[in-house]
Amino acid sequence: MISVVAHPNIALTKYWGKRAGEGNVPAVPSLSVTLAGLSTRTRASFREGAGEDTFRLQGLPAEGDALRRAVAMFDRVRAASGRTGAFEVESHNDFPTASGLASSASGFAALALATTRAVGLDWSQARVADLARRSSASAARSVFGGYVTLEGEHAEHIASAEHLPLVVLVCVTSEGPKDVPSTGGMLRTQEKSPLFAHWLDHAPTLHARAVKALRDRDFAVLGRTTEESTLLMHATALAAGILYWNEATKRIVTSVSALQERGAPCFFTIDAGPHVKVFTRPEAADALERNLAAVPGVLRVLRASIGEGARVVAS
Ligand code: DP6
Repeated sequence: MISVVAHPNIALTKYWGKRAGEGNVPAVPSLSVTLAGLSTRTRASFREGAGEDTFRLQGLPAEGDALRRAVAMFDRVRAASGRTGAFEVESHNDFPTASGLASSASGFAALALATTRAVGLDWSQARVADLARRSSASAARSVFGGYVTLEGEHAEHIASAEHLPLVVLVCVTSEGPKDVPSTGGMLRTQEKSPLFAHWLDHAPTLHARAVKALRDRDFAVLGRTTEESTLLMHATALAAGILYWNEATKRIVTSVSALQERGAPCFFTIDAGPHVKVFTRPEAADALERNLAAVPGVLRVLRASIGEGARVVAS
């Protein structure tokens, strides 16, 4: 029995769109931070011989798409190890699925590490990330801690949390599941958005600028570039008829601009849903959290700092 822990991550420069062909390879590079404090815990064991895989999520048998995607990973791990047998897996997230924090990222990072270890494969982080990416590309980034890039098939840790400490305030603006899940949203954007060619062209420039700003510990440029990547991703999706924002999303973005004008060190990003993630420096987090919690439509604010990659906690 292998037990692992992994955390969600939030992209600063966004992955949106896939390369043609196999392997679920992103069409554009991305930069993320892996979070601390919000966790997926996964326990896996493997039994030789005949038998059915079992996969329990939040205490219940997984079904539908979640089960299909997990079994596809189990099949890859069986093929890589040359072993035949069945997995027994249990996975639990300690953060709400309606929080706008991608449970697929921490979930598949944890699953990739747990299942490979359960069959006795002692893979490098890079190989575990390659496996995780095939299930959900953002999961490749959660294999690593701190600041992480995903460029094509290659995920890599590029800086630690101490290099530029940040706090993220997740402003939750809706309890429901998102309208268009990210995989479907990006495929429709690729197919339908007249702005997609521009996104493909410009995203690498934004990514290079963000990576340089991070290396220079330039909070202001990193913040502006993160917002630009977010806005361009959402504009590109909007041109395909996909709108993730709600009224509160707009209000928070406006509030963040006003706070920036008053000198608060903060910047926002938004993923495939209406919640807004606001990054700030640790010393400014308390005041900012109070301000954001008071914005009409903000249901609650979750707080996280930068954390570690996926790891085995017991075996
Ligand atoms: C908006 O990794 O969930 O959060 O590879 O199809 O599973 P699949 O997509 P996923 O997409 C994440 C999109 C995003 C931006 C990001 O995290 O980079």
